[in-house]
Amino acid sequence: MSQKVNKTSDLNNSPKKNLKITISIEVYNNASELSAPDQQLLQEAKEATHSAYAPYSQFFVGSAILLEDETVVRGNNQENAAYPSGICAERTAIYYTGAQYPNTAIKAIAVVARRDTSEYLPAAPCGACRQAMLEYEEKQATPIKLILQGEGEKVYVLNSVSDLLPLKFGKDNLEQ
Ligand code: THU
Repeated sequence: MSQKVNKTSDLNNSPKKNLKITISIEVYNNASELSAPDQQLLQEAKEATHSAYAPYSQFFVGSAILLEDETVVRGNNQENAAYPSGICAERTAIYYTGAQYPNTAIKAIAVVARRDTSEYLPAAPCGACRQAMLEYEEKQATPIKLILQGEGEKVYVLNSVSDLLPLKFGKDNLEQ
């Protein structure tokens, strides 16, 4: 018991400070609460799950990207027998966008998953996809909105990719 008290007082004298990082996520009860363009983009992502090539995981992910000129780019996960050679839906879509529309800003990205049923599932982007999306957000210097399927019917909206990556490593880190 006395040991515990000592530990607490050590902590109180410590120069350590806690850095609290807050992110904000808009939570919608279902897709019909979204604005019409966001609803439409989520629907595009749902449709994109149906062209995923995911014979190994049976986890079909769809992504849809809305560009500033209203073009929509769809992507989905593409797996490979040599597993790491596959790629996620988000990177399929964003790298295609980078290749085909290098000078057109991205407004929003929607992501949703599905198994072999008609129920849509959450797929929070993996770390590599967060990093890839961040690169394009920094390149265009305007925020990219994320529309993510949540649990059940819920939908999460984040106003910037950087919200998904506190303490991000980006191109500024490489500047001398
Ligand atoms: N996957 C995506 O496409 N996006 C995500 O956000 C999470 C995971 C894919 C990778 C793999 O093909 C399958 O889902 C299972 O991990």
